[in-house]
This record gives sequence, C-alpha cells and structure tokens, in this order.
Amino acid sequence: MLILNDVRLPIRKFASPETIFGSGSLELVGQHASNLSRRRVLVVSDRGVRDAGWTGAVERSLERSGLEHASFDRVAANPRIEDVVSGSRRYLDEGCDLIVAVGGGSPMDCAKCIGIVATSGRDLRELEGVDMVRVPGPPLICVPTTAGSSADVSPFAVITDVERRKKMVIISRLLIPDLSVLDPQTTMSMDADLTISTGMDALAHAFESYVSNASSPLTDLLAREAARLIADNLPAVHRRPADVGARERMMLASLYAGLALSNASVGLLHAMAHAIGGLYDSTHGDAGGALLEHVIGFNYPCARERYDELERSMFGTAGGEGSLIGRLKGMFEELGADRSLKECGLSRGDIPRLAENAIHDPCLATNPRPAGRKDIEVLYERAL
Ligand SMILES: [Fe+2]
Repeated sequence: MLILNDVRLPIRKFASPETIFGSGSLELVGQHASNLSRRRVLVVSDRGVRDAGWTGAVERSLERSGLEHASFDRVAANPRIEDVVSGSRRYLDEGCDLIVAVGGGSPMDCAKCIGIVATSGRDLRELEGVDMVRVPGPPLICVPTTAGSSADVSPFAVITDVERRKKMVIISRLLIPDLSVLDPQTTMSMDADLTISTGMDALAHAFESYVSNASSPLTDLLAREAARLIADNLPAVHRRPADVGARERMMLASLYAGLALSNASVGLLHAMAHAIGGLYDSTHGDAGGALLEHVIGFNYPCARERYDELERSMFGTAGGEGSLIGRLKGMFEELGADRSLKECGLSRGDIPRLAENAIHDPCLATNPRPAGRKDIEVLYERAL
C-alpha cells in the first residue's frame, strides 16, 4: 500500500485498450486493421447501424487498406447466444483473423463473444462469470456508434440466454478490445430515445463506478468528470440534436465512464438492470434510469461523501440525499426520461424471479452496501 500525505491508497490496476478519439477517426479503421489482419475481417454490426451508413463506411475504409471482409449483421437488440453461435460459425467459415464491431453495446458484446467462442470452441454458457475465459479471441477493433454502452473499452459482455430467460455476464481481461475508434460523428444518427437511454447508461456507469468498493483515484477522476460532462451535455444534445460539440463531449463522457466502470466495476443498479433485461426485451439504459434514485437511496448511508462529490461535480453544490435525487429527477424530467419500471415492461409477479437473478449477478460484489434478496425485492417494488 502506498502512503501519501497520510492518505492510504489501495493497490489497483488499470487496464484500457488503445483508443483513437475524434470526429473523422472512423476513416482510420482500415489503416489500423491492416496491422492486425493478414487474411479477412469479420465486420459485426446490426441492421440499424448498417442502414445509418456506418458499417459501409468502415467496410470502405478496410477496402482502401486492401483488406477483404465478410459481414455479420444479425445481432438482436439484446444479443442472444444464438447470435454468438451464428457469428462464430461465419467467422470460421470465412477464414477470418480479425473482428471489427460497429454499433452500440449489442454488436460489440456479441463480437467479443463471437471471438472467444470461435477460438476456444466452447459453449458460451461455460464462460459465464468472472475470469472463466482461458483462450483469447482474435484481435478486436470496436467502433461505437452510441455514447453510453462502454463495451468498446470494457472487459464485460452481456448476452441473453433465451432458454433460461437470463442475461449472462461474462467478465474477463481477455474481452478488452485491442483498439477502440471513437468517432463522435457516428452518434449524430441516434434518434432522441437512443440518445437519452445510452446517455443514462453512461451516467449509471459514472455513479456506480464512483461508489464502487473497487474504485481508485484513477477511476474517481474519470467518473467525476463523466458525471460533470453528462450533466452539462445530455440536456444540450436533447435540445439540439445536431450540436456536434455537445455530441463530442457526450462521447468523451461515455469513454471516461467506461474506463471507470471497466476498472472499478459497477454495482446493484446493474445487477438489477441485467435481471430485467434477461426477462423482458427492454432497453438497458431505460431500466437503469428508473432504478438510479432508488439505488442511491439504498446505498446513500454507506457512500454519503461519494454521492455528495458526484452532486457537486454535476450541479456545483451538494445538499445531501434528497437534494441529489431531486436534481437528478429534475434532469430526467427535462429529458423525458423519468420512467418507472412498469414503463420498462416489468410486472409485480416477476419480482421474486428478478431478485433471484440479480442476487447472482457478479456486479453485486462491488456495491458499497451489501444487498440481500429482500432488499432487492423492495427496490424493484419501489421503482415499479
Ligand atoms: Fe450499463
């Protein structure tokens, strides 16, 4: 343990992929891919991103660098094991040696798992949990087209097991992409709902990583700045969707929050949101937004100072639990994002099952206050 001015700092490591940030950076994908591929590239995306033109733009960049590519666009909004199996078959059949993922969290999580299934030949269910991945996937380049998921820098992948109606969380250092190319121009094609739900996800990442019991001075710096940028710029992009500067700062906020969550992990909100995503085909960011004030209320007694610091970063002053929650609710109302879990599709009868799944989610381990099954049921009930 390092001792500095009487403040004892814990030993912490910090992992991050190589990143390229800036408008127009998408054009550089081919050049960087050509350092990693000798055969053929599998481009993983979804229909929406292809229709917006970003997948084609990445493919043209690969072609300019003389690279052949195959595509896999069949990724569901909440990617399923079946998508991973089909994608890994395509990767092997096409003789690929590099994956480029273009899109939001769904194609990126799917691409990570396509890689580890293709190289290991294992069933994805055997790789669920923490550090179960033994064989690295092929090199992976991520081109995020939303500002929020953070899958482009994180060691996480979340995949739905339709049979068990459960979201599997796979956490491994081997899932961190090799390169993340963050081009804020790509976020200009998001509609209003996607802009807000992915922005809310970034905010949840900043909050959960900041109060996580695995946080460190490095992740604190990033999480606080992410929260500040989101408070300043999410309402701005909501009011002015074509404001490129605000879009750039939201993507920067997403990167900061992503690096914080990748190294400090998240907590109760994500354990509960993953359980919801497994049972209903709901939007991850919306469920997180509906849970945030209730999770803050539960955690506040154990992380008072940390929440006050977040409130100061976002709003300039701190006034305690009620003040923070009131200001967040005001912001969510302005964004049209003050949802209940009922609006995310949740029904009361499913709460015991949701709590059962949440209690086994690996994200719960870093929550600042231990949460039992009963606590979680009460929180679902309150957010309904
Ligand atoms: Fe998230």
